[in-house]
Amino acid sequence: MWKFVILLVATLALVSAQDAPAATVPQNCSAIVESLDWNNTALFGTWQEVARNPIGDAKACLEFTVGLLHDNVTLSINASHSSSSTSLFQNVDEKANVTLVANAKTGYNVTFFQGSTPQAPVYIKLLQIVNSTYITGCGYTNATDNSTSYGFILGAPNKYTAEGIKLVNDGAFPLYNNFLNNTYANITQQGCSRNSAAQSLPLISGVLALALLLIKAH
Ligand SMILES: *[C@@H]1O[C@H](CO)[C@@H](O)[C@H](O)[C@H]1NC(C)=O
Ligand SMILES: *[C@@H]1O[C@H](CO)[C@@H](O)[C@H](O)[C@H]1NC(C)=O
Ligand SMILES: *[C@@H]1O[C@H](CO)[C@@H](O)[C@H](O)[C@H]1NC(C)=O
Ligand SMILES: *[C@@H]1O[C@H](CO)[C@@H](O)[C@H](O)[C@H]1NC(C)=O
Ligand SMILES: *[C@@H]1O[C@H](CO)[C@@H](O)[C@H](O)[C@H]1NC(C)=O
Ligand SMILES: *[C@@H]1O[C@H](CO)[C@@H](O)[C@H](O)[C@H]1NC(C)=O
Ligand SMILES: *[C@@H]1O[C@H](CO)[C@@H](O)[C@H](O)[C@H]1NC(C)=O
Ligand SMILES: *[C@@H]1O[C@H](CO)[C@@H](O)[C@H](O)[C@H]1NC(C)=O
Ligand SMILES: *[C@@H]1O[C@H](CO)[C@@H](O)[C@H](O)[C@H]1NC(C)=O
Ligand SMILES: *[C@@H]1O[C@H](CO)[C@@H](O)[C@H](O)[C@H]1NC(C)=O
Ligand SMILES: *[C@@H]1O[C@H](CO)[C@@H](O)[C@H](O)[C@H]1NC(C)=O
Repeated sequence: MWKFVILLVATLALVSAQDAPAATVPQNCSAIVESLDWNNTALFGTWQEVARNPIGDAKACLEFTVGLLHDNVTLSINASHSSSSTSLFQNVDEKANVTLVANAKTGYNVTFFQGSTPQAPVYIKLLQIVNSTYITGCGYTNATDNSTSYGFILGAPNKYTAEGIKLVNDGAFPLYNNFLNNTYANITQQGCSRNSAAQSLPLISGVLALALLLIKAH
């Protein structure tokens, strides 16, 4: 009996000694880190990119709408953003189709199209979904160059908060080395507008909107 207990204690000590280092070393956005499966209804809908580290040349007003097409195999991603990190005019639209692979954990290379013009492919892994309100992920801005890696946080519009973004970053940096303690840049999402009646209307006053409607009606 005592021999058994000693053996058990020794085994437990060995197991915890082996587990400890693996659990504490933040992982690169490389082959080691598994992506979430992208074929997940929890990911579908509209997301705004709210933080990134490092910021690179991330554009302001960066928004994604994600959904599965009727073939059940193609993920459609429609993105919109402004033309710079400071412009609030969301006038660049990009679209990508991703052919899903069942149970894929390797992330995806994604080629966005501006109109019919393909952009350089980016590489993306999704890492965590937090409270249905945040998604963390990592990627390479150049799909073939892992030195361009970055971490990002997406937020559900009108649900995320500045405090929540910080908490999400607090949870991510011990696990993934693209996130750093208290170090991330906000991507501007306040005051963005589009050149479409539906989305810009709330930004102008009721009287002006009425005047514009009257002008349009003639
Ligand atoms: C992780 O990235 C660091 C540099 O940030 C590099 O030195 C290290 O070799 C990488 N590890 C792996 C397993 O790719
Ligand atoms: C993206 O836009 C296309 C139209 O250009 C549309 O058919 C598709 O459903 C959109 N995808 C999503 C996820 O909304
Ligand atoms: C897609 O999946 C849904 C339910 O998951 C099913 O009803 C539909 O027939 C499938 N469509 C195709 C093209 O396989
Ligand atoms: C995505 O696939 C749909 C359906 O095949 C197609 O209509 C659309 O043009 C494709 N979009 C892109 C950006 O390739
Ligand atoms: C994605 O999920 C849908 C619904 O669960 C399923 O019908 C479809 O086969 C999946 N597609 C892939 C590529 O795994
Ligand atoms: C992405 O593209 C690179 C370069 O073509 C390739 O080495 C890599 O395997 C691709 N990754 C995935 C997940 O398809
Ligand atoms: C991406 O990285 C590869 C390999 O480092 C390089 O040859 C290529 O020019 C880069 N592409 C862009 C758009 O910077
Ligand atoms: C980039 O890839 C090379 C070759 O696979 C690897 O040695 C290196 O550690 C990787 N660096 C990062 C930051 O992941
Ligand atoms: C998620 O919800 C839990 C439970 O309500 C809360 O403790 C936690 O702070 C939330 N996380 C974020 C990032 O808001
Ligand atoms: C994160 O940074 C704060 C100060 O900004 C520090 O108090 C805290 O100990 C750091 N956490 C870790 C795990 O390094
Ligand atoms: C991000 O924005 C919040 C307010 O929305 C602010 O409290 C925080 O300091 C900003 N962080 C950075 C790194 O700019």
